Amino acid sequence: MTTNTWQSPSNIALVKYWGKKGNQLPANSSISFSLNNALTTTTIEAQYKESNVNEISISFYFENEKNEIFEAKIFTYLEKVAIDFTWLYQYHLTIYSSNTFPHSSGIASSASAFSALALCLCSLHEEITSNQLLNFYETASYWARIGSGSACRSVYGGYNLWGKTPSIAKSSEEYAVNVDECIHPNFKSLNDTILIVEKGKKAVSSSQGHALLKEHPFAQLRYDIANQNTEKLLSILYSGDFDSFTRLVESEALMLHALMMTSPTSFILVKPNTLAIIEKIWDFRNQTQTELLFTLDAGANVHLISSDKHNEQVQQFVKNELIGYCQNGLYFCNTIGNGPFKINNA
Ligand code: PMV
Repeated sequence: MTTNTWQSPSNIALVKYWGKKGNQLPANSSISFSLNNALTTTTIEAQYKESNVNEISISFYFENEKNEIFEAKIFTYLEKVAIDFTWLYQYHLTIYSSNTFPHSSGIASSASAFSALALCLCSLHEEITSNQLLNFYETASYWARIGSGSACRSVYGGYNLWGKTPSIAKSSEEYAVNVDECIHPNFKSLNDTILIVEKGKKAVSSSQGHALLKEHPFAQLRYDIANQNTEKLLSILYSGDFDSFTRLVESEALMLHALMMTSPTSFILVKPNTLAIIEKIWDFRNQTQTELLFTLDAGANVHLISSDKHNEQVQQFVKNELIGYCQNGLYFCNTIGNGPFKINNA
């Protein structure tokens, strides 16, 4: 039996991926950073099947319990991976996965989950075939992307770019690349306090959201603006200009939700408390000049991003003024994370 375990983070996008083309390729480029505290740990045990059945077979356990819904999704995913990793037909996979954050907290887990899974599959591939992958992390990012687009940005720590953009020669639509060499010290140690406005499953999934862009009257304009924002953000991250960073990241978050509200079948994922938190953040920033801003995922929760030098002030602000808007007072503190790591199996 060959066993592998990887722990991998979730990430938060600063320029958002919203809209797909072709085989799970992004309609525009995006940039995110990896989180240090929202992690998935996945172990895969691969057992050689003596009987020569050329079929994918898996057992999937989430938080130590058999989970047939996830199992079916991963089965479909592995059918795609097996086109390249043909050994998958000859092994039974037992997969154990767990998160450091509650599944129903409203924190997206598909990025960390597919990143950890793809990393395990790449390690198994190398061990089972005795062939080293030409570029391990790019291959893992490629396969993570096939599972969930944003997952491709989770196979590295720090800041990551997905999609082709003129100023980064190595950039690609097929996989994400790390851009930490382009980051000013001002942006190296940010905090992300995730304020849980709403736990549980979203009314509209991100797959449905991406699909709605196909018919969206603003789609092409959005893709153009997002691609320009990627270039702008790269130059801001390089220069260290926090004010421009604030304006661009907040505008990206609001544009994502404006797209939802203006699609032919419209939907709204923000809640009154999301807007109340945003108002509070703006007031606090105006009054104190603290370096803090918000971004939003495809959901109601708010990511409060702040510079490390103001951390104490920001944590006090969260406790005094924002907790009341969080469901059951729930929030999670993160910093920029170092990325995935392989855990040695005893
Ligand atoms: O990876 P998906 O298909 O769940 O889409 C993620 C979309 C956003 O989180 C809204 C933006 C992003 O770039 O992560």
